[in-house]
Amino acid sequence: MNRPVRLGFVGCGSVMSGPYTRMARQLQGRGLVERVIACDVVAEKEKFVQDELGIPRFTTDYREVVESDDVDAVLVLTSMAEHGPIAKAALEAGKHVLVEKPMAITLDAAAELVSVAARSPGYLLCAPAVVLSPTYQEIWRHVQRSDIGPIHLARARYGWAGPWWGQWFYRSGGGPLFDLGVYNVASLTGLIGPAQRVTAMAGTAIPSRVVDGELIKVEVEDNFQITIDFGEARFGTVTTGFSMQSYRSPAIELYGGTGTIQMMGDDWAPAGYELWRNSVGAWQIHGDTDPHWQWTDGLRHLVECIQTGTPPIITPEHAYHTLEVMIKAIESARTGRTLTIESTFTPPTFDLGEDDRADAHLAHDPTS
Ligand SMILES: NC(=O)c1ccc[n+]([C@@H]2O[C@H](COP(=O)([O-])OP(=O)(O)OC[C@H]3O[C@@H](n4cnc5c(N)ncnc54)[C@H](O)[C@@H]3O)[C@@H](O)[C@H]2O)c1
Repeated sequence: MNRPVRLGFVGCGSVMSGPYTRMARQLQGRGLVERVIACDVVAEKEKFVQDELGIPRFTTDYREVVESDDVDAVLVLTSMAEHGPIAKAALEAGKHVLVEKPMAITLDAAAELVSVAARSPGYLLCAPAVVLSPTYQEIWRHVQRSDIGPIHLARARYGWAGPWWGQWFYRSGGGPLFDLGVYNVASLTGLIGPAQRVTAMAGTAIPSRVVDGELIKVEVEDNFQITIDFGEARFGTVTTGFSMQSYRSPAIELYGGTGTIQMMGDDWAPAGYELWRNSVGAWQIHGDTDPHWQWTDGLRHLVECIQTGTPPIITPEHAYHTLEVMIKAIESARTGRTLTIESTFTPPTFDLGEDDRADAHLAHDPTS
């Protein structure tokens, strides 16, 4: 494609008006996209969308976006329950689609999306885009080069106190696992490979909250501890919840036979990584190679894929697998059973590149 990719937005809430608008404006400044139309069921958003965000057309019916001849790619940025149906309609109309996580809230709807995407001329890119971060890819290279040996154990965490907007976050089809733990599950399965079994404990730690200025009952689990079995005695845990106030722990920890890697920051906003190798006997501290990397990078990647005619690195099969792990974690917590994961996928691969260990800053561990 030799012209800007024409974008239609569905859902004009927090992420659309902030992070995605910033990313789209950056791409627009480089002549790569045009923002054509936006949709929200709340009609009062029209003035804001046109005057503040600078998008010329507005509708309250997503079908208008999906069916517009002058739209190449649809961004589905609504509450989660609407993701599946809107993404499916857009793919059926032949559009490229970026859908926020999770791709759908049931496995049936997600399976349908995977199959529609396989037939559609449009690409389907499902958030989260964690595998696109330079830090993730550096860690992936260390794992591939066997710098820490075979991975035996892994831990991942992402949580916060929870949104004070969007009551849907606390109702069926919402919750912190779909919203936050999804990053961790995508990261761990990307780095280690497909999960085979899952077991979890979950509960509602904070049964009522003030959201959008109203006291509401929390109808879903807001607090999770999940264990994933990757086979061959390889286990990972995911700690997530709208129940965490703050932390200074690594986002991802990988424990291998000859070393350890820790991703700092969060996996959606990494702050570099730390590498321990027995052969070096010291922690190597790597700063973030691109502190400007943003979690909305999926949009930049999708635009690049459309322009070069190359399928996205993030596959619908990975998003489906991630969803299966999450849905079965919820079921496991409710039933007390360990559940088998039936789906699989091929983790994304990257150029192995040069060995960068000479650039690392060495920090000797006083305890070793
Ligand atoms: N808020 C964050 O920090 C964040 C970060 C990353 C990803 N996400 C994901 O982005 C998505 C949106 O989150 P948010 O925080 O912006 O939520 P939000 O509640 O602020 O916005 C969602 C918007 O979608 C609109 N909407 C709902 N159904 C619609 C429909 N059928 N057609 C058109 N519009 C519709 C709502 O009116 C609302 O304006 C979620 O999937 C969330 O998990 C959020």
